[in-house]
Amino acid sequence: MLSLNNKKIILAVSGGIAAYKSALLLRLLIKQGARVQVVMTESAKEFVAPLTFQALSGEIVRSDLFDSAAEAGMGHIELAQWADLMIIAPATANTLAKITHGLADNLLTALCLTSKAPLLIAPAMNQQMWNNTTTQENVTKLSKKQSIFLCGPALGEQACGDSGYGRMEEPQKILQQGIKILENQTISSGLLKDRHILITAGPTIEDIDPVRYVTNRSSGKMGYAIAQAAINEGARVSLVSGPVCIEQPQKVEFYSIRSARQMHETVLKIVASADVFIATAAVADYRPASKRIQKLKKNSENLTIELIKNPDILADVAALANKPVTIGFAAETNDIEAYAIDKLKRKNLDMIAANQVGDAKGFEKDDNELYLFWHKDNEIQSKKLPLADKQILAKQLIEEIALSFTQDINIL
Ligand code: PMT
Repeated sequence: MLSLNNKKIILAVSGGIAAYKSALLLRLLIKQGARVQVVMTESAKEFVAPLTFQALSGEIVRSDLFDSAAEAGMGHIELAQWADLMIIAPATANTLAKITHGLADNLLTALCLTSKAPLLIAPAMNQQMWNNTTTQENVTKLSKKQSIFLCGPALGEQACGDSGYGRMEEPQKILQQGIKILENQTISSGLLKDRHILITAGPTIEDIDPVRYVTNRSSGKMGYAIAQAAINEGARVSLVSGPVCIEQPQKVEFYSIRSARQMHETVLKIVASADVFIATAAVADYRPASKRIQKLKKNSENLTIELIKNPDILADVAALANKPVTIGFAAETNDIEAYAIDKLKRKNLDMIAANQVGDAKGFEKDDNELYLFWHKDNEIQSKKLPLADKQILAKQLIEEIALSFTQDINIL
C-alpha cells in the first residue's frame, strides 16, 4: 500500500458534530507521512476549536478567504495548487449544495473551485437532510464528476437521536479511500481518456423455481479489476454485472442484472456508444426452459430439467454493423490455445483473453494468468500475461487494448 509520504493534503472541515472525528483523521494522515493544511468554515469552529487542528498539524488553521497575512504567504490560489488531494470531512448538506452549484463564498468552497486535485467528500448530516431529494440530486451530480469521490455517509445512530444514513464514515475508511485515490492517480497515464468501455462481469443466475437456480463460481473480481483499470486510464466505464459480493468501483456506470437475458438486453441498449466491449462475465450458456412458479416437489427418484440456450452476448455484439472493438474471454479447463483461437475466429472478435479454470484457478481467486490472442496482418498474434494479482493483470490487459486497438478508433 502506498504511504502518504510528503503528499500534500487539504483537510477541509465544515460545521457538523462529526468535526471532532476529523481530528482523528488528521492524526492518521500525519502518521502516514502526509503534510496537511486544515481549512475550517466558520460554523466548523462552533464544534471544534481551530487550536486542536493547529496542535495536531503544526500549521495555522486557515478560514478566511480574505486573510491578508495568509495571502502574503501562501494565498488561497497557491494553496489550491499546492494540494495533491483535498478531503472535506465532514461535508454538511449546505457545503455539498454550495459545491454542486459552484459557489465560492468561503475559503473551503473557493478551494473546491480553484483546485485541480481530486476531491474526497465525507458527508455527515441528519438522515432527513441526507435523504432530502435536493441533497440526493446534489450528490448524484457531484459523484458524476471525474475527480470527485464520495465516502459514506454510514448507517447508524446519530448524535441527534435519529437513526439512518448520515453518520460520517470512520476516519480509517476515509484515509484508506484517500490513499486509493492517490494510488490510482499515480499509476494512470490517461491512455483511455474520452473512451467509453463497456464491460460485463460476474456470473448470471438462471432460475429453476422460486428457491433454486443454475449459476457458476464467478466472483466478479476479474471484471471489476478491468473496470477499475479502465477508469484509472481515464475511460468512461459502463459495468454490467451479475450478482457478486464485492464492492463496485467508484465512477462506473453500474447496471445490475441477474440473468443472461437481462445482461444481453442491457448490453445491447448501451453498446452503440461504446468504443470497446470486454466480455469478462461468466454467462450461463443455458437456462431452464421455463421457471416454475412454485417450488419443485421431491416426488420422484430422478429429475430432468430441460435447459435451453441463452443468447450469446459477445457474438451478438461482434455481429453488429457498427461494432466496438470486441474482446472476449475464454474460460477453459484444457486445450486453452485451440479453444481460444476457435472462439476468436468463430465469434468474429478482435481479441480473446483465455484463462485456465478449475483446480482453484481463474474463478474466485485473487490472481490469474491470461493468454491473449488477436489478429494482425492475417496472422494470429499471442502474448502471455503471467500469473499475477487480478488488478495487475487488468492494468496490463487495458494497456494492451489501448495500445493495440483504440488508436484507430474515431472518438464518437
Ligand atoms: O469472476 P472471477 O471469479 O474473477 O473469474 C474470472 C473468470 C474466470 C470468470 C474470467 O476470467 C473469465 O474467464 N470469463 C469468461 C467466462 C466464460 O463464460 O467463458 P466462456 O469461454 O464460456 O465464454 C466465452 C466468452 O463468451 C466470454 O467472453 C463470455 O463472457 C461470452 N459469453 C458466453 C456465453 C454467452 N451466452 N454470452 C457471452 O457473452
